[in-house]
Amino acid sequence: MTLLDKKALFRKKVSTHEDFADSGLRKCLSAFDLTLLGIGCIIGTGIFVLTGIAAATQAGPAVILSYVAAGIACGCAALAYAELAASVGGCGSAYGYSYAAFGELFAWIIGWDLILEYGFATAAVANGWAGYFSDFLTSLGWGLPESLRHAPKHGGIVNLPAAGIVLLLMALLVAGVKQSASANAVVVYVKLATVGLFIIFAIGHVDAANWSPFMPYGWYEELADGRKVGVFAAASLVFFAYIGFDAVSTAAEEAANPRRDLPIGILASLGICTVLYIVVSAIMTGIVPYTTLNVSSPASHALLQVGATTAATIISFGVIIGLISVMLVLYYGLTRVIFAMSRDGLISDFFAFVSPRTQTPARVIIICGLIMATIAGVIPLGELAELVNIGTLAAFVLVCIGVIVMRVLHPGMPRPFRTPFSPAIPVLGAVSCFYLIYTLPVVTWLRFLVWLVIGMVIYFGYSIHQSKLNSDRLLSTE
Ligand code: ALA
Repeated sequence: MTLLDKKALFRKKVSTHEDFADSGLRKCLSAFDLTLLGIGCIIGTGIFVLTGIAAATQAGPAVILSYVAAGIACGCAALAYAELAASVGGCGSAYGYSYAAFGELFAWIIGWDLILEYGFATAAVANGWAGYFSDFLTSLGWGLPESLRHAPKHGGIVNLPAAGIVLLLMALLVAGVKQSASANAVVVYVKLATVGLFIIFAIGHVDAANWSPFMPYGWYEELADGRKVGVFAAASLVFFAYIGFDAVSTAAEEAANPRRDLPIGILASLGICTVLYIVVSAIMTGIVPYTTLNVSSPASHALLQVGATTAATIISFGVIIGLISVMLVLYYGLTRVIFAMSRDGLISDFFAFVSPRTQTPARVIIICGLIMATIAGVIPLGELAELVNIGTLAAFVLVCIGVIVMRVLHPGMPRPFRTPFSPAIPVLGAVSCFYLIYTLPVVTWLRFLVWLVIGMVIYFGYSIHQSKLNSDRLLSTE
């Protein structure tokens, strides 16, 4: 490798919010809108579906503690995000922060990682949505055949509703349906009402006997068959439920006062969801034995078991509506990150082409939609969620370290929000996220590695030569 190439790998790009003052996007989102955007993306398949899988197969009622553990890791990462989102500009989120702190190679790795996170998460949430939708159809007497409800690994041919909802969203997005902050707010209220109603309907049915044994799988154990179980193994699965607060930072170019409001949006949405998750997981495992929760729609299934039929129908309907906002925000997050990378030359601008007819980035929406629909149809939820989690955790580790690096490299940079107790909190965030990566299945590590290798091939084969920094004299190559 030549000296120039080595320099290229670590060349940095530090942007401020002012650099994007004329980016063309309307700067209209308030702290309140950003908080709702976060909640819109956070509450979804994690709490409504994965809680059941994690309780039944990995943690028992102690899934409540798994939520606390994952919440602590996310809390530290959120404080780090808040600092960087307030001081570094642009909609690329962790990708942009890594470009500033570590240079182009790491930025590419994280950008590639975010594509995995947002793309596969959309497919994963589609799976969770499909579980509630199929059960809802069945309750109306229009149930689909089993072969069209499950991925091949679970005895089916294809999960048709999961693939179908992705294709439907794809068509909507291409047609130019604009997800305005107010439309998102309506869905968020429906979702918060669904969570609230679940708590109200279910709390009277809690029987403390269901919390015993509380921790049947212990804190953490690797079984003879290689399976990882226990509170911390479940934490690395239910971590999925928290994903989305980071997506608030992709709205940086649309925030009215990003320096003040991004930290509020990130921290408030995470704080509200953490409290709700702990309450909901306690109630869900309190109303029925945890062993019965490994089903596609555990919240409504649990209510059905205690005879609350109407409540179960209302909750199913709320979840079906509410999960649509999660998929939309994730799908948007995906296209934004690809945009940011394409603007920097690391991805071909073929993908950033905006259709003059619909005024939407139709190519990237269609290509991503077809790939995500296929993935949603054939890979089961648990595996998708684990893959998403490893990608997101890796991004969180780098964002936490990024706070420390940026304070050393750019001590004078304005920091409207400062992570408290730095470097203790960022170090705790990086270590706890890294530990959650460790508790994920080995096969997930390998799949992630394959994804990164593909990314490296693209970077060295294409991106390093096409980077806009090749011709930009203003930017440093420290
Ligand atoms: N946190 C989001 C969910 O649980 C991705 O669906």
